[in-house]
Amino acid sequence: MGLWVSKGILATWVVWSSIVVGVNSGASSRASKNPPFALEAARELVAPKPTLREKAEFEGGGFWEEHDDLLTRAWQELGPRHGDLYKYGHTFEKRYLSKALRRAARDAREGGNETSARDLFKEVVPGVFASEELFTQEFLNDLLEELEHVQGSGIPMRRPNGMNRYGVILDHVGLESSIQGLVEASVRPLASMLFPELVGVEDADEHFAFTVQYDTAGDTELAKHGDASVVTLNLCLGRPGWTGGDLRFFESGGSGFHVGSSVFKALPRGNASAGSGDLSFRPGLAVLHRGQHKHQALPLVDGVRTNAIVWLMGKHGVVRVAPYAEHEQLSVYERWHRTSANALEL
Ligand SMILES: [Fe+2]
Repeated sequence: MGLWVSKGILATWVVWSSIVVGVNSGASSRASKNPPFALEAARELVAPKPTLREKAEFEGGGFWEEHDDLLTRAWQELGPRHGDLYKYGHTFEKRYLSKALRRAARDAREGGNETSARDLFKEVVPGVFASEELFTQEFLNDLLEELEHVQGSGIPMRRPNGMNRYGVILDHVGLESSIQGLVEASVRPLASMLFPELVGVEDADEHFAFTVQYDTAGDTELAKHGDASVVTLNLCLGRPGWTGGDLRFFESGGSGFHVGSSVFKALPRGNASAGSGDLSFRPGLAVLHRGQHKHQALPLVDGVRTNAIVWLMGKHGVVRVAPYAEHEQLSVYERWHRTSANALEL
């Protein structure tokens, strides 16, 4: 029987931060009376600066809750630079998903064969799967330019999570539905394929998507931690030219599926292996790992590194940590035939 465990405050914040709270502050009241000027009103707000390096999920929470409605409307008024990023469908898939991923998804969905999908990945650290074949260069370019667009808009932005101070919560700037489409069509089936013991029918129904930015003037590193996710997708966007900033993984511990180091190396991939090792990012490299597989961002020495991160989780931010027995795990068919997004012809 499965065990569901809430990850407490992190998961709570994920859910809480995703809720649109219709509180009328002074500024938002003014904007309500003058709907076209939410952008202007938002630019006048003075947001609290992020300072804490950990356990900062609620830093400045009152401000962001108070102005949530105004900020949502300000992002709508601003509009996109790359409109294709905001709607999941044929155009999104053709422009942003690699041919290899589209072919692999078609093979799995129509032929029940995951060989192509598995071949997209290398297990670079036990329990950590990396691929440079998921997304197109246009996806990296458009997303980086979109980040410049929103970061240069003058609209205040909340810190992306309780540890990183700099980045953008993609779900808050209008990208939530297109990322959910991407999750349903590709990321969730891939996560279930790589981690069948953790991703069952409802374990990745929701997501939380954000970017993190490392540079010498801001965050240079991140302490050892686990994510508030069942599985995390971490995609390096670029831009090229930084040094340092590797990602370090630690042997499994305290995660609910701990396996002694003498044992887990003998386990098949995609099962309970969760080992130690470092990986170097490069633009386009995507990594999938269990959220509870502890990791750390090593110090960035020079330049700027920006990554897009998607946390997968169950409804209400619930994070599964207890493994399914083999007979409880999803079949290939079940993994790839769950949602309306899957009906798209890839
Ligand atoms: Fe993390």
